[in-house]
Amino acid sequence: MAVKKTENAETKKTVKKTAGKTATKTATKKAVKDTSKVEVKITPKKSILFVASEANPFAGTGGLADVIGSLPKALAKNGNYDVRVVIPLYQSVTSAWRDTFRFVGNFNVPLSWRNQYCGVFTTKYEGVTFYFIDNEYYFKRSGLYGHGDDGERFAFFSKAVLEMMSYLDYYPDLMHSHDWQSALSVIYLKTLYKDRERYDKIRALFTIHNIEYQGKFGFDMFADVFGLPEYAYDMVEYDGCINLMKGAIQLAEKFSTVSRTYASEIKDSFFAHGLQNIIAENEYKMTGILNGIDEDVYSAKKDEKLFANYTATDLSGKKVCKEELQKMLNLPVNEEIPMISIITRLVSQKGLDLIKAVFEDILAENVQVVILGTGDKEYEDYFVDVANRYEGKCRTIIAYNKDLASKIYSGTDIFLMPSKHEPCGLSQMIACKYATVPVVRSTGGLADSIKAYNDEERKSGNGFKFYNYNAHEMLYVIKDAIYTFGNKKEWTKLQKSAIKTDFTWKKSACEYEKLFENILN
Ligand code: GLC
Repeated sequence: MAVKKTENAETKKTVKKTAGKTATKTATKKAVKDTSKVEVKITPKKSILFVASEANPFAGTGGLADVIGSLPKALAKNGNYDVRVVIPLYQSVTSAWRDTFRFVGNFNVPLSWRNQYCGVFTTKYEGVTFYFIDNEYYFKRSGLYGHGDDGERFAFFSKAVLEMMSYLDYYPDLMHSHDWQSALSVIYLKTLYKDRERYDKIRALFTIHNIEYQGKFGFDMFADVFGLPEYAYDMVEYDGCINLMKGAIQLAEKFSTVSRTYASEIKDSFFAHGLQNIIAENEYKMTGILNGIDEDVYSAKKDEKLFANYTATDLSGKKVCKEELQKMLNLPVNEEIPMISIITRLVSQKGLDLIKAVFEDILAENVQVVILGTGDKEYEDYFVDVANRYEGKCRTIIAYNKDLASKIYSGTDIFLMPSKHEPCGLSQMIACKYATVPVVRSTGGLADSIKAYNDEERKSGNGFKFYNYNAHEMLYVIKDAIYTFGNKKEWTKLQKSAIKTDFTWKKSACEYEKLFENILN
């Protein structure tokens, strides 16, 4: 039943023009007819296809989904590019969303010796065209990742994206691929598809959201699953295995990462998880652009999940949020006790070892601490155990729950994020938008987004920073934040400066546009 569709009909438009008012009455009928309808070719907007494994609001597990849900929207709003996004159609995409999708068609995708079904659905959401790659064998499963055949699943996805282009007769000028799950889209484009007409013109940009996850596989995957040609071996081999991120970095016209500081950090072996030499070799084509957030979504004024809304000029709703949160968590209701929140994936990258080292010292202060997140069992067990021992002071909720996250961001006073490394980090920005003052370790995007009050002679700043990965240095700065909380005038100044910080995509979307322009010209 699939009908091949031409999706870029917008490229040619007929513009009607009325004949000039000065036309004399003596002009012949023919001449008037000739000028009444002029066919004008409008240069089509350049087109960008975002290729990623998750995008809000359809399917997500973390920061990547936020970025793919908000950057294309910001770019579409700017109006300079035709922006589209493609992600897999996971089981978790709700039927309410699916009801809004249109089936475009289906075709088969060759993947080594396999020949797999691929359906394509589409919808337009907030100015952006989204495509969804459907294959129930690969994507009708619980969770987005963590299956034994993730390599094959995302190889299929990447190959399907390239096959979709010829099926739709839609060839973007630029393919912008993200993280290891989409790295093969770049590798395929620059190997198997590089000599095919129209594919040969597509440029590739690859963005690293976290260099820790590189897509490493055994050599057996090279031909049998990825179906790569022999000459591509050197492009994807690294350090005794197949490394998809390495391949994408090398083959893309440019690559980027999600903050300027992280871009310089990943030249170092401490941050690069083995890829430092590849980063150094390709540094000439690397850029760091800080992520923004969707301030329509993360907004103390608009967020309907809050107990009360508030703004920079009237923070009174935040008091209600704190009181209701204390009641909800069964903690003593007292606005004078500073509340510290930690909302994170419970993994070592997030600096949880530092917290563990001095957690009981923190709890010795007059504070309340709330932890929300899921992750490694070691940390889950630890924080549950401490919460059990410090009943009236500490609550641990093992969950990934956006509703509750909003209530905690808004109801607490201090947001703790002591990451060991942090490519960008969005939580510190979100906390600011709820007038919750972040205490962060200065690394990656945390360094670039938080200006330290404790460094600026306490005159300006939107948070507190410490520098070394050292638990006592962190403890010292947390105590400083607690002490400052006691000074209402200073604290309100900090809260206002935090909530007023501009974390929109405005500036960063422009930086991306410059980068696109640079690649396309
Ligand atoms: C990853 C990084 C995080 C970043 C996000 C979006 O999750 O760990 O720092 O904010 O991607 O780019």
